Amino acid sequence: MRSNHFSPAVLFIYLTIFNTISAKSIVGDQCTVNVKNGMNREHPPIVVKLSKPPMYVYPKMSNASSLVFQKGEKVMVFCPGRTNQNSTAVLKPEIVLVHGKEPKTPESMESIMCTGGDKFKIDDELDIFKQISCHEEPRMSYNAIMQNVNEDCVNGQRYEIGFDLKEHGFLKTIDLCHDKKMARTLWAHAIIQPTDQDQFRYSGDGAKSFKAGCLYDNMQMSKKEPYNLNVAYKTISIILKNATAVNKYLSTKINERKFLAKGHLIANADKMYRSEQESTYFYANAVPMWQQVNADPGNWFFVEKYVRLLAFHKQHELEVWVGGVSTLQLENKEIYLYYEKSPGKKVIDRRIPVPKVIFKCAVDKEAKEGLCFLVINNPYLTKTEVEAAGDKYIICKKHSLCEKLTNYDNGALGYMYCCSIQDFYVKNHEDVGVEDLKQFLNFKPMTLLTKEEIQIS
Ligand SMILES: *[C@@H]1O[C@H](CO)[C@@H](O)[C@H](O)[C@H]1NC(C)=O
Ligand SMILES: *[C@@H]1O[C@H](CO)[C@@H](O)[C@H](O)[C@H]1NC(C)=O
Ligand SMILES: *[C@@H]1O[C@H](CO)[C@@H](O)[C@H](O)[C@H]1NC(C)=O
Repeated sequence: MRSNHFSPAVLFIYLTIFNTISAKSIVGDQCTVNVKNGMNREHPPIVVKLSKPPMYVYPKMSNASSLVFQKGEKVMVFCPGRTNQNSTAVLKPEIVLVHGKEPKTPESMESIMCTGGDKFKIDDELDIFKQISCHEEPRMSYNAIMQNVNEDCVNGQRYEIGFDLKEHGFLKTIDLCHDKKMARTLWAHAIIQPTDQDQFRYSGDGAKSFKAGCLYDNMQMSKKEPYNLNVAYKTISIILKNATAVNKYLSTKINERKFLAKGHLIANADKMYRSEQESTYFYANAVPMWQQVNADPGNWFFVEKYVRLLAFHKQHELEVWVGGVSTLQLENKEIYLYYEKSPGKKVIDRRIPVPKVIFKCAVDKEAKEGLCFLVINNPYLTKTEVEAAGDKYIICKKHSLCEKLTNYDNGALGYMYCCSIQDFYVKNHEDVGVEDLKQFLNFKPMTLLTKEEIQIS
């Protein structure tokens, strides 16, 4: 019996030694941090490269699950400040916890160094990365902010969303072009990482309230949200002046899925970490999209997932520009989510246009390829009606590439098609600008993968 008690312990010691040796010979002088189980899951710090401007550290493409650091390499870690109410609060390195406690030497937490063998120098000890976490405030917020970059874009001004790391710079997650007068975002831009998003991105509760940031200042977005199902129903009733028609398009019952959702431009799921996902919840990063088109199995949902899978299968970063073209008409009337008579004025103040077509242009700089995916933001149009209407809905020359993708021409899910970057740009830049696409007009159309090849469920 005694030997039975002994042997597991001996075996344990043997395995520990064996593992240490074999781990060393495999990883050498590196530190590997698995993003799923090697980091604090609920309150992870933001891990940032020491660069100007600062950048997130993502898994290496060859190993989609892990952050890899060389021995001697330093990284910074940031956590939210405690004053969560102030939208401009900075992320502070001194709110980082080690083993759930405040570090003994907070100033040493400014940068964390890999010492090899998966250990880091943390608070003057050698430790594993998982021991670093952020203060566990309820409803903790990383306090993403939006700022005006004081630069024009075609038909609007440029803004950026991200995190204020004070003297370390601005950690940008999204930039966009917004027309303040119409309360319309023309496009938003971000980079989709080639990591296995479906497996390794943060998958916790993404439901957050949207922030107005430095925009919509005179529209009382929080008090009378234009997207609220009842508010939108009233607004569109005023525009259409026909109850039968309104009830054909809209329902105030959420389970009937007949409403205009806050359709993310840069999707929550396009981002890997919890902090950058949180930064997508700004009104300026959304346009009104029919829920039937926006949510699974809608074609916009499909396009978003498809582009992420393309990045993964190509193992290239994809830059995306996402926005809405023109204004949707129902019953020959343009639809807006904000439609008010200003006091003392006769004119109607029309803002937040519902786009007619939503686009996502994806560029692979490494392969010098690109393609624009377009989805008609109207689930009440049939394939026949779309195709009979000429260039009203097909706003650029349809590329045959996307016709291999199932459901592409199902009107009730939002009719979908693709165009070359060049043709999309030439035909639509007066409306949506996207002047940043100009540098890619000579890129080839992107090689696609069929739905079967990339196994979209
Ligand atoms: C990727 O990293 C993990 C550790 O997080 C390791 O177990 C695995 O072997 C690595 N895979 C490759 C292909 O290097
Ligand atoms: C938030 O912080 C900014 C800059 O530090 C300050 O100007 C502003 O008054 C603060 N707002 C609130 C609500 O505390
Ligand atoms: C109201 O809308 C319905 C449904 O689109 C249409 O059939 C009807 O002719 C419209 N009524 C008027 C008065 O325009």
